[in-house]
Amino acid sequence: MLPPILSALRIPVVASPMFIVSGPELVIAQCKAGIVGSFPALNAREQDGEPPLLDAWLTRIAEELDRHNQANPDHPAAPFAVNQIVHRSNARLERDIEICHRHRVPIWITSLGARVEVNQAAHDCGGIALHDVINNVFARKAVEKGADGLIAVAAGAGGHAGPLSPFALIQEIREWFDGPLLLSGAIATGGAVLAAQAMGADLAYIGSPFIATTEANAQPDYKRMIVESGAMDIVTSSLFTGVSGNYLAPSIRAAGMDPDNLEGADPSAMNFGSNAAKAKAWSQIWGSGQGIGAVRDIVPAATRIDRLSREYAAAKAAICG
Ligand SMILES: Cc1cc2nc3c(=O)[nH]c(=O)nc-3n(C[C@H](O)[C@H](O)[C@H](O)COP(=O)(O)O)c2cc1C
Repeated sequence: MLPPILSALRIPVVASPMFIVSGPELVIAQCKAGIVGSFPALNAREQDGEPPLLDAWLTRIAEELDRHNQANPDHPAAPFAVNQIVHRSNARLERDIEICHRHRVPIWITSLGARVEVNQAAHDCGGIALHDVINNVFARKAVEKGADGLIAVAAGAGGHAGPLSPFALIQEIREWFDGPLLLSGAIATGGAVLAAQAMGADLAYIGSPFIATTEANAQPDYKRMIVESGAMDIVTSSLFTGVSGNYLAPSIRAAGMDPDNLEGADPSAMNFGSNAAKAKAWSQIWGSGQGIGAVRDIVPAATRIDRLSREYAAAKAAICG
């Protein structure tokens, strides 16, 4: 059973959080167009000594969605989600949890570690917690620690993808878990959203296609590269962040490395060695999932969501009659 907060969407889609790329403009556009929009809390970075930017972002999102809902009572905005990186390297976690709790963030997405306290904070302010996992073992741990729902990150996903086929992953999780289950990885069409549901997922979790939108916080060359590339241009490597991830081969080439020979490459020569420099892995070596062959233009997020919605309806009609 889906909780009410996830069941009233225009199409069963949650836009995934993307480091650097997802900010308030994109989230607001996604929610207004009827799908859950999300961003990583870490994207809201203030200068030293300034008040937390996360506070300002959450205020702005709530106010703009409120205004939209008052003007469009028949088409209210979908709820939004904030992603917390629950990893010991995230020195801001406690502070960000306090801010999200204070703003009563409705959907909390946790990645790179499951922690009871984060789920409790989400529940305490009336929210739900979804945890992303790459296999069944992590899925069980996440639910034991109090996650309400799971995001199955399958092979082909942008960012830190998993190695498993979506068919295998969803089947194994669905054998024991009947809560909200999202599928992530190379979903870029309405037909693929329906396929995720046919497999046993409740919702699709879509990232890379939203990089090629006018509201995405991505360089114009990055957006263009998404439009011009396909599955064959995606390279899987743990070289840049220490965790296996999917990247656009042309961006690796542009940074002076050979995407076909990353084994012998020396990222420290590119100043990717330190923690602070990890951000460079995302700002210069660009992440993407394998589904981008379906992305042919840079458009407003609402246009992309309209298309997904039409394709979803057409696929349903073609299969279900
Ligand atoms: C550029 C980029 C940055 C990402 N950053 C994050 C992040 O900060 N936190 C997170 O939980 N997932 C992150 N992801 C993974 C997405 O949340 C999601 O799993 C993925 O985009 C789904 O696959 P798709 O891109 O093929 O749709 C990122 C993905 C991309 C493409």
